[in-house]
Amino acid sequence: MQSNMFGKTTFIAAVLMLAVFACTSKKEADDAAKKSPSPTDLASAQPEVHGTEVKSIELTTPLNKDWVTTGRATYDLKCQACHKLTDEKLVGPGWLGVTKRREPVWIINMITNVEMMLEKDPEAQKLLELCLVRMPNQNLTQDDARKIIEFMRSNDGVK
Ligand code: HEC
Repeated sequence: MQSNMFGKTTFIAAVLMLAVFACTSKKEADDAAKKSPSPTDLASAQPEVHGTEVKSIELTTPLNKDWVTTGRATYDLKCQACHKLTDEKLVGPGWLGVTKRREPVWIINMITNVEMMLEKDPEAQKLLELCLVRMPNQNLTQDDARKIIEFMRSNDGVK
């Protein structure tokens, strides 16, 4: 009886130790994974979609000149590498005429929610087929994007 009890206790203790050991090594593995995330981990940990879909935006004339200036500065910094201001394609389509061929709400979602657009918008998908490169999310706020649209309108001749 006594030895049987002892046997049970030892057994339970062994199971507990195993469990603790298993947890520790899992934690270590997790820590290691955190230190050197693989590219796939990064992609799943930080989905590109960061905003909510914009449902409507209002344009006004005359243009807000400050927004045009700020929008231009953002363009120089974050868009110029892939977009020309003419109708010529670079990595992405040239911007000339973009505010005429697209609804403003489409443009703002293309800027702030490109992942969503490439997934479900047929026009965005056509561009992807044409350009063969996925436009990266530039992490702009809706406010930044609105100012870029003002700059695009100015580039399209709106006063
Ligand atoms: C690394 C290249 C790259 C950068 C940087 C980039 N884009 Fe794009 N953009 C693309 C590509 C490529 C497309 C076409 C869609 C696709 O293939 O994903 C596109 C499409 C667009 C469109 C649709 C154009 C049209 O003719 O309908 C808009 C608007 C746009 N980008 C805005 C921006 C803005 C604003 C920025 C900067 C904040 C920016 N892009 C930065 C590559 C880029």
